[in-house]
Amino acid sequence: MTRCPLRLRGIIKFIHLYLCPIGLQNPLPKCLTFNVGWTTSKFVIIMKSMTVPGFIAAKQSQNKITMLTAYDYTWAGIVDAAEIDAILVGDTLGMVVQGHATTLPVTLDEMIYHGKMVARATRQALVIIDLPFLSYQVSPEKAIENAGRILKETGASAVKLEGGVSQAGTIAALVNADIPVMAHVGFKPQSVRSTGVMGKIQRDEELLLADAQAAEQAGAFGIVLEMIAGPIAARITEKLSIPTIGIGSGVDCDGQVLVLNDMLGMTDGFSPKFLKQFAQVREVATQAIETYAAEVKSGSYPGEEHTHQ
Ligand code: KIV
Repeated sequence: MTRCPLRLRGIIKFIHLYLCPIGLQNPLPKCLTFNVGWTTSKFVIIMKSMTVPGFIAAKQSQNKITMLTAYDYTWAGIVDAAEIDAILVGDTLGMVVQGHATTLPVTLDEMIYHGKMVARATRQALVIIDLPFLSYQVSPEKAIENAGRILKETGASAVKLEGGVSQAGTIAALVNADIPVMAHVGFKPQSVRSTGVMGKIQRDEELLLADAQAAEQAGAFGIVLEMIAGPIAARITEKLSIPTIGIGSGVDCDGQVLVLNDMLGMTDGFSPKFLKQFAQVREVATQAIETYAAEVKSGSYPGEEHTHQ
């Protein structure tokens, strides 16, 4: 996405916050127009420079899409301020936040709990929330109910679910209910019990293409391609008109997603081939905590300057 200079952003924000709500006509072009929403109890202004149509348009204009996970207010604020296009409240929170071995134990209420914190911190990114295991597989009706709760209770813009051909009916039902859906094909962590860590489908080009096309035809606005061979991901990307977001699927996808805790070097002992650690936050944090402990023990913290007189 093209970045907006700080001063221009300030002017846009002023127009949206103060002029539009009192009825003055918005003089801004549509691409600079934010969503303005109401709730019954109070006026809520949701400023988001990324929308679902904007996400699809990024593919057409060949703008690479950036996406990262976030699970709480502090980190979502940092990711959003860095102008990442989309924030995924992934069910990977089951692993990186809750310490489970898989994503399967995560509940709908937990996704909503984390989704609320992330949406509260987000000003410009598109917030997408994972539908957890068994919240959409039971029936399309159940999926609408659960995805509806996510959008209504968190303020997020879209949901993500795992599957292509097998979930096409559910994707269509959600889209018909005006719930934007991102699909997720290739390695599907929620299927880890039935497929193993590296499923067979990840290497079957025709099955993967069929999955991606089924999701697109059902109305998905984007697709995560997880850990599939680069040339296959490139072919799928070329065949689809909606964006593909790769994780471990090569550079030809329309965008990339990583788990925030992994790319910041916060997770211990997780280093798949596709992962690049862009920082060593675990190391920096450990050093800071050790220094704090040493200073408390030696009495050099708190000093005079930290003490109320
Ligand atoms: O749950 C998640 O964080 C995800 C990403 C790995 C794409 O689905």
